[in-house]
Amino acid sequence: MTLSQTRFVTTSHAVDLAALPRDFVWGTATSAYQIEGAVDEDGRAPSIWDTFSRTPGAVDGGHNGDTACDHYHRWQEDIALMKELGTNAYRFSVAWPRVVPGGDGPVNAKGLDFYDRLVDGLLAAGIAPSVTLYHWDLPQALQDRGGWPERATAEHFASYAGLVAGRLGDRVTEWATLNEPLCSAWIGHLEGRMAPGLTDLTAAVRASYHLLLGHGLATAAVRAAAPGARIGIVNNLSTIEPATAGDADRAAARRMDGHVNRWWLDPVHGRGFPADMREVYGVDLPERPDDLDVIGAPLDWTGLNYYFPQTVTADPDGPAPHARQIDRPGVPRTGMDWEVDASGIETLLMRLTDEYGARRIHVTENGSSYPDAVAPDGSVHDPERAAYLTAHLAACARAARRGAPLAGYYAWSLLDNFEWAYGYDKRFGLVHVDYPTQRRTVKSSGRHYAEVIAAHRAR
Ligand code: IFM
Repeated sequence: MTLSQTRFVTTSHAVDLAALPRDFVWGTATSAYQIEGAVDEDGRAPSIWDTFSRTPGAVDGGHNGDTACDHYHRWQEDIALMKELGTNAYRFSVAWPRVVPGGDGPVNAKGLDFYDRLVDGLLAAGIAPSVTLYHWDLPQALQDRGGWPERATAEHFASYAGLVAGRLGDRVTEWATLNEPLCSAWIGHLEGRMAPGLTDLTAAVRASYHLLLGHGLATAAVRAAAPGARIGIVNNLSTIEPATAGDADRAAARRMDGHVNRWWLDPVHGRGFPADMREVYGVDLPERPDDLDVIGAPLDWTGLNYYFPQTVTADPDGPAPHARQIDRPGVPRTGMDWEVDASGIETLLMRLTDEYGARRIHVTENGSSYPDAVAPDGSVHDPERAAYLTAHLAACARAARRGAPLAGYYAWSLLDNFEWAYGYDKRFGLVHVDYPTQRRTVKSSGRHYAEVIAAHRAR
């Protein structure tokens, strides 16, 4: 074994590849609305993102997911790219409005067929599919009936989840119920920066409750339909530090930790909703007997999406949680203006391990957006993204050395794609997409990821 096979070295970071299990999952991730396009083909109905992206001023540049990366038609080419990178897993989401266009009721066979073909194609390429059942694209028909603030949405979600698992569960083992419910509830219903674009604390808290109830009900539905399934939930967590050592900032940091981390982690780990945050929100939860048992049903794995740390200060006049993030001067930032701090992923992996007793963890998303330049020869050289990737992989390996049961890492994202309210100008892909031509070009960061994977395999 050579040194380069043991430790993957760049100028400033080393990834301790020996710390990662031999069967480590090396993946990439995407989501339906961000890449598929074909929004009105083969029976798909509108989702809340089709509606939101048509709301004037909601999305930068007036962009929408109508065409996106045209993955609905180019999925075979995209599987070939995954293979080129050497990945052995792919995390994608199923579009609920493609499969059950009305949210409940009739099933759209053509919608299910698409995912059936995709799964078969992945397996034929030696790439394990990891299915996320909800990545923010609620059927608009359900929004029209109240959306996530209504309990019925959670019940419809479970029916849809069971249906998809019944069709794909003979070939798909890894299942996630929700992606980043924080964004659906807090950004979509409280801050209004994402679909459905509400700014209503009561709606947001009710949505958060029903999202987690939906997670629990869907977990049971998937287990019933696909007994071999391994089920988890994907949360985007942040490390939270107070801006100063003062009492007000420390209390603000505790509230922000409740808002961002504990509200989502405690209930699914059987601890109920944090009492301090119930008080902060001051909204009655739409609780019914047994709900907490449903929500807290044991998981097979937990998913961590990590992008940036947060330093917060008290904001007594601001909305719940009365705390806001501040900019730390001199800290490197990505093109999203997000601070870069790879140690955060290690801290969170250890927190999931030590505080929540996680038995199996996937980093289900991690990545960075930078303004890429296409060279005259068509290549895309993106050393900042490669450095971000390596630094975070190194931090993951450190956590694994310290005992975190880290089973896999999915880079966000396989492709440049529709970055929600930021439209197409923010690029997270390991593969560049030229939208007018749909030409794909593996960036130098993608080649770098392929080399890390190859070095791990060669050990
Ligand atoms: O693009 C998103 C993804 O849909 C959810 N997690 C964060 C990514 C980057 O913002």
